[in-house]
Amino acid sequence: MKPIQVGLLGIGTVGSGTFQVLTRNQEEISRRAGRAIQITMVADLDTARARSLVGENVRVVGDAREVIANPEIDIVIELIGGYGIARQLVMEAIAAGKHVVTANKALLAVHGAEIFKAAAAKGVIVAFEAAVAGGIPIIKALREGLTANRIQWVAGIINGTTNFILSEMRNKGMDFDAALKDAQQLGYAEADPTFDIEGVDAAHKVTLISAIAFGIPVQFDKCHTEGITRLASADIKYAEQLGYRIKLLGITKRTDKGVELRVHPTLIPARRLIANVDGAMNAVVVQGDAVGTTLYYGKGAGSEPTASAVIADLVDIARLDGADPAHRVPPLAFQSNTLAAAGGDLPVLPMAEVVTGYYLRIRVADEAGVLARITGILANAGISIDAILQREADEVGGEGSTQTDLIILTHDTREGDLDAALAQIQPLPTVLATITRIRKEELN
Ligand code: HSE
Repeated sequence: MKPIQVGLLGIGTVGSGTFQVLTRNQEEISRRAGRAIQITMVADLDTARARSLVGENVRVVGDAREVIANPEIDIVIELIGGYGIARQLVMEAIAAGKHVVTANKALLAVHGAEIFKAAAAKGVIVAFEAAVAGGIPIIKALREGLTANRIQWVAGIINGTTNFILSEMRNKGMDFDAALKDAQQLGYAEADPTFDIEGVDAAHKVTLISAIAFGIPVQFDKCHTEGITRLASADIKYAEQLGYRIKLLGITKRTDKGVELRVHPTLIPARRLIANVDGAMNAVVVQGDAVGTTLYYGKGAGSEPTASAVIADLVDIARLDGADPAHRVPPLAFQSNTLAAAGGDLPVLPMAEVVTGYYLRIRVADEAGVLARITGILANAGISIDAILQREADEVGGEGSTQTDLIILTHDTREGDLDAALAQIQPLPTVLATITRIRKEELN
């Protein structure tokens, strides 16, 4: 069969890895795909660098639209990133009848509805395994391997940069700023790390996971997003003493009322496998009604790990090219005419409706009755306490006045009820600083 011809838009870290792995493993890949897969054209603003990476047999251009306009190209790989030009090029490639492979989670999380609709209308595939958790085949697992299941929840460490920072904070007792500097020096964090440390990258990814797990539209705007910038090393230590680790999790959960969709630092029991995923590694836990709990672990970024996912998509397309579009695996796992409407039967729930456990750190004056007052307010709100830790008091004021950190773990609580209780606790004169609240998931 004629080789499938691929045009690459952007040859940075992932693009060059894709070219290298395709070249190195070409014999095995074509035996799997049933035909050769060749990158025959590359577009990059730095044409000299691109040329040095791909050699003389590949056409290198500075204008991505030349790739899209080439009738010989069957698949366009978009590795430019962002919502700007990448969006236009993906839409133009679809309009030109090309299949698209992308690692662009931001683009799909925000504009996925428009892109998948255009692709369906044109009968082309938009594949995005590389967009979520890099080399871990989590999209394929959810979409195909677990297709028998009613998925109950998915929770993942899906941002390597923040997992590296949290590991440094825990292992070396560093504070956030120092750990971020380390991550930047070692090349894990970008010069502008905002999307990673504020949880936005993880929110893009969990939004895509949520759509595939539950058959709902991609709804990034409904994802509650909290990063790790306000996490204190003291909280990591206290959590440890209570048998928990703190991880930045992307969580999506089906409940009777709708779907929870959230990214935030989370206490998880230290004995869970996922709690022991350290450094820049990623891991995703999926709970299905038939299979039970499954765990997927691996590199969530990097040149060849991400290329591994990009090439898996190329092989899928090579196998399916020419097949009736109605017989392909649907990109969002559910047949498009069965996707729930946004806000329909499975609305994404506001945070007030989310039910989870909480870690509270309350800086209090060490006086008689303080603990009783606080636990009384929690009891009146119907909030059940799971554990309490009180540190030895520090002498801070004059005349022997002392302060202490009171750590409370709650059982599962509706977030709206906790907000109401904290609104009563915070103004107490014996509460001396802003209360720290971190969500807790048992993941069992
Ligand atoms: N910056 C991401 C991470 C990788 O740190 O995991 C690309 O999404």
